Amino acid sequence: MHRLYSSVNSVLNPASPYAAHIGHLFWITFWISMAILLAVSAFVIFNLIRFRDRGQEGLPPQTHGNTLVEVTWTAIPLAILVVLFVLTMQTMAAVSPPRHPAGDPVNVDVIAHQWWWEFRYPGSHVVTANELHIPAGTSIELKLTSKDVIHDFWVPELGRKMDAIPGHPNTMVIEADKPGVYLGTCAEYCGAGHAWMRIRVVAQTEADYHSWLTAQAQPHPAPRTAAEANGKALFVGLTCSSCHNISGSGAPAGQVVGPDLTHLADRQSLASGALPNTPKDLRAWIADPTSIKPGAHMPNLHLTSSQLDALVAYLEEQP
Ligand code: CUA
Repeated sequence: MHRLYSSVNSVLNPASPYAAHIGHLFWITFWISMAILLAVSAFVIFNLIRFRDRGQEGLPPQTHGNTLVEVTWTAIPLAILVVLFVLTMQTMAAVSPPRHPAGDPVNVDVIAHQWWWEFRYPGSHVVTANELHIPAGTSIELKLTSKDVIHDFWVPELGRKMDAIPGHPNTMVIEADKPGVYLGTCAEYCGAGHAWMRIRVVAQTEADYHSWLTAQAQPHPAPRTAAEANGKALFVGLTCSSCHNISGSGAPAGQVVGPDLTHLADRQSLASGALPNTPKDLRAWIADPTSIKPGAHMPNLHLTSSQLDALVAYLEEQP
């Protein structure tokens, strides 16, 4: 079973040099805060006991203004803030290293949509959705933009967060120390489908990554059965191909409205993490998208059962 959900995708479980810097800063801040909490609590408890009511008559002696105390309670917080400021600046510099030279094959264009992620590999013309494959042990530069509203790319184990803003490309760097699947999510409220705008980063060995990239650059497998051929004809003939592209389907590549479905069978999840990628789940998704992901822009085409079967057969074709 795929790791669809996880409780360990936290910055406290870093799997990259960048996330390690952020985790380190978190723990320093945490322990300073704990020291303050303990010191203040101990001081309050001490005074509660030391100056408790012992049954004397009237008010005890009152003190107004004390320069030493005031300087102390200004200087200590100031010193703590200066330390945190310097550490934060160092962390910010460490998690935003200098840009790669243009055209580096491990640059990936990330385009956020309501409510899915488009990943483009400029070096090889490969386009995928919701699943970002990267080679482990290499820093990957992401160029983030958005097609509609502001989204935010965040895979806590691999690096910092970064907004994806329409018309304003941002860049950030992620890296995975070792192969594995790292989960993330859109971290900026962006409408009804925000909760189902998950990110899945698949870090692979250099060799596995390159064979994946080579396979993705191939056209979608040609139909081998009557059902698959029927599914391809439906994909091109119905409105599917107005929003989705499948390389090799024969439909003209139109505007990118929905995810590119070339080699859909190779992906682990559907609908940006809402479902595991099985033929049964794909069928349920096409039959009634908004029952699975409220607000989804994919319409219910009221397809017949045999049309659904044919489309699923074509979309889930293995090479
Ligand atoms: Cu996209 Cu929240």
